[in-house]
Amino acid sequence: MDDEIPWRALCRLEDIPDGGAKEFAPSPGSYSGLFAVRRGAEVVVYENSCPHVGVPLNWAPDRFLDGRCEHIVCGTHGALFRIEDGMCIKGPCTGEALEPIPFRIEDGVVFVDPEAP
Ligand code: FES
Repeated sequence: MDDEIPWRALCRLEDIPDGGAKEFAPSPGSYSGLFAVRRGAEVVVYENSCPHVGVPLNWAPDRFLDGRCEHIVCGTHGALFRIEDGMCIKGPCTGEALEPIPFRIEDGVVFVDPEAP
């Protein structure tokens, strides 16, 4: 018998706007949710928690990026994070990083680690 918990389906790749981001509510029992940023076929998924004080990053639904869509921005104190690795490059948590969430894409569906918040 296989006791492995299956990975959780997050959404279809096409549900994440190309060049934009999408927010996902916390799973049961979790405080912070997730968000994904997509550039074409490239996707990153992070926990929606600023390393500065642990609040959600977005200031409105699905609003995680700066005006040029070049960085992830925290809506509370304006920290900027690189999209590719979540590293904070400007702001009160410079040098800290967003928590990456393991994911995989199969048949156009984004799956995350079953332990993800
Ligand atoms: S809570 Fe994100 S920069 Fe302060």
